[in-house]
Amino acid sequence: MYCIIHKIEESYLKLDIVVLAENQSDWSSLNLSMIELNYLKSQLNLQQSSIQINQYSRRLFIEIISLKNFESLAREKVRIIGSNIAKKLNQAKIEKVGIFSLSDIDFSLDLAEGIALANYQFLKYFKDSDLKKNSLRKILVRSKSSEIDRLNAVISGTLYARDLVNEPLSYLTAVKFSEEILKLGDEAGFRVQILNKSQIEDLKMGGLLAVNKGALEPPTFNILTHSPENAVNENPIILVGKGIVYDTGGLSLKQTTNSMDMMKCDMGGGASVVGIIYALSKAKVPVNVIGLIPATENRPGGNAYTPGDIIHMMDNTTVEVLNTDAEGRLVLADALCYAKKYKPELVIDLATLTGAAVRAIGKYGIVAMGNSPKQVLDDLLESGENVYERLAIMPFWDEYADLLKSDIADMTNIGPSEAGQITAGKFLEHFTDYPWIHFDIAGPAFLSKDNFYRLKGGTGSGVRIIFDYLIRKAL
Ligand code: BES
Ligand code: MN
Ligand code: ZN
Repeated sequence: MYCIIHKIEESYLKLDIVVLAENQSDWSSLNLSMIELNYLKSQLNLQQSSIQINQYSRRLFIEIISLKNFESLAREKVRIIGSNIAKKLNQAKIEKVGIFSLSDIDFSLDLAEGIALANYQFLKYFKDSDLKKNSLRKILVRSKSSEIDRLNAVISGTLYARDLVNEPLSYLTAVKFSEEILKLGDEAGFRVQILNKSQIEDLKMGGLLAVNKGALEPPTFNILTHSPENAVNENPIILVGKGIVYDTGGLSLKQTTNSMDMMKCDMGGGASVVGIIYALSKAKVPVNVIGLIPATENRPGGNAYTPGDIIHMMDNTTVEVLNTDAEGRLVLADALCYAKKYKPELVIDLATLTGAAVRAIGKYGIVAMGNSPKQVLDDLLESGENVYERLAIMPFWDEYADLLKSDIADMTNIGPSEAGQITAGKFLEHFTDYPWIHFDIAGPAFLSKDNFYRLKGGTGSGVRIIFDYLIRKAL
């Protein structure tokens, strides 16, 4: 991986360090000379919050934080400081940095998280990738080893999810996606079962097969299992991820200018499921979790499914396809049916499902809805604040389901123009018989420009919130 957080073994004395402090912190432990101390105080008087002191043997990056905010907001501000610091460290060609906290609350790990997430690069396709590589490799902190291990795990999971999203279709077909999942399973220790097209046919996954009809490559259905011996739950928690490796819209081809350009991100939900299970597995989190990822491309072509088609889903529900661009819900529906056999305690699906979710709240959070007990939702909301992958909970009234009535089949695959993110959720709900929550990550999954430590391209949206939720459940 790019940059790893370690427990500090050496002394801070000769190390380049980032110091997290408050305005009125006690500076004595920094051993500054009189001149340095006076400089620091003059900068503080000028309301500077980023102060750099270059000594002969090392550099100090002093960052002033304010604890007046809610703790979750303060932590996010520290991660953002981390993303700015990452740039400075790489400009200075620093390979190893220590974090030193002088503030009343220790935010070292949040700073490390921001730095590590911002240090990510996707360089695979550059001829001279070595020349472009960031210098930073190691972040040293005083925190507990168990917490450091967990943080490294969730950062790696997030960055692997970003890698998968950033891979274009020219490399990442459904079959390649499965091979990548296998590799990560080997590395982290989770089990991976890959169903091929004929197995998918045997299961009568009519949604996944319909979307795949126009594709040049076969579909896959991926089953990831993390089942540690000491798990706190008997019935698994299931994570379902949309795995559309490219979404052209199919015969209902995407027409809006540029709307197809970023559609390699349409397996972002699947990538995040892989990232979460990778992280759980690396950190040996004692919770039973299963990931289900239906994968295919969505393309027009001689044999492509067409508007007007009626398809039979895995549970025999018939769906009148009115728009082949509403493909995500078709492949997810089969995965939700498949999930029933596990008698899950809870199912969460993650999907770049609708433009309506993007129009509703943009890139600033995850559009969520479902029918799980209130406690689950409260815990997820709290995790969302903790890691700043916030949830915007939609109303989920029965009336929205009425908008999917078809004249000639059990349901249509699209509703009218209003509340598209909610009717998409209602479509999915039809295929559930267990507590379930839907995360529409179409807004945050892929960015067109850097947003602090969430960089341009794939973000790994959903990994950190669900990891936080499951960790808190398990510990
Ligand atoms: N993959 C798209 C949704 C999407 C939009 C993801 C923007 C990321 C960014 C999805 O398959 C789709 O095309 N949805 C349609 C549904 C419509 C036809 C009912 C949409 O939102 O336009
Ligand atoms: Mn689509
Ligand atoms: Zn899609």
